Amino acid sequence: MDYQLDGAVMIITGGAGGIGATTARLAIEAGCRVVIADINSTAAEATVSDLTSAGGEAVYVECDLTDPLAIERLVAETVEVFGGIDVLFNNAGVADAMLTDKLAIDELPIEVWDRVFDINVKAMFLLCRAAYPHLKKSDRAAIVNVGSVGSISAFPHTLAYGASKGAVALLTKNLALELSDDAIRVNAICPATTETQMTKDYLEAQGDPELAARHMAASHLAGRLGQPQDIANVTMFLASPLSSFVTGAVWLADGGQLAWRGQKEVVSA
Ligand SMILES: NC(=O)c1ccc[n+]([C@@H]2O[C@H](COP(=O)([O-])OP(=O)(O)OC[C@H]3O[C@@H](n4cnc5c(N)ncnc54)[C@H](O)[C@@H]3O)[C@@H](O)[C@H]2O)c1
Repeated sequence: MDYQLDGAVMIITGGAGGIGATTARLAIEAGCRVVIADINSTAAEATVSDLTSAGGEAVYVECDLTDPLAIERLVAETVEVFGGIDVLFNNAGVADAMLTDKLAIDELPIEVWDRVFDINVKAMFLLCRAAYPHLKKSDRAAIVNVGSVGSISAFPHTLAYGASKGAVALLTKNLALELSDDAIRVNAICPATTETQMTKDYLEAQGDPELAARHMAASHLAGRLGQPQDIANVTMFLASPLSSFVTGAVWLADGGQLAWRGQKEVVSA
């Protein structure tokens, strides 16, 4: 597939593992130069080493997205190393379900709410703002924000996460409007349950992780959980000039989960 992104500079937040790392691999295959921004240095360095040993150009910039100054530094370092920014993949996110251990509304610590919003929403805005002067110089500028099925619908025990992902959907549409005169496209990709560390952590907190996984899979018309590659494929399309007429979209990659709100027969172990 020619994504028309040869030589493009892509920042991927939360690129150390999961959806971010898989997207980084596809981006490298497409000829992008990739900046992995994360706090997990061990995993990020391993990911960068994989990408570069395959012949790609990739660097790791340590960046805690709760720190506005670190976000400024991320943009400055990217421009210093690669000379500009074409694509911003705002992928990093944290969930609150396992953090809050299914707490009731009056047990949810305000610090958890703030942290979820700081990483999932505020950092997204700050990074878009910091990258804007560079994105507007690109002739293939695109921002892809990661939402969730929780951007569209409520799910149990995700009060802060769900609200933050709802904000991502409208942040995306407002950014698409604000940046349209600069020809910067802005879209959101909204996964359903995808097999990454985030999902593993969630499942491990359940009484029977195997059964919980099968129940989750059964809520998808596809009858299975998502794989990072499923999400990365759509992300690459939204990042690419191939989707030049797509902006302000909140694009589901949910295995059909929100096409209905039912449950298929749970596959036995
Ligand atoms: N996995 C799913 O089922 C699922 C479903 C819907 C949406 N999403 C969204 O997909 C995105 C990627 O998640 P994933 O499933 O690959 O999860 P993941 O936990 O594997 O990856 C998240 C990455 O974000 C990084 N990160 C966390 N806090 C950070 C911070 N303060 N600064 C910088 N980096 C930080 C982590 O180190 C990690 O590398 C998230 O926005 C998540 O909400 C995931």
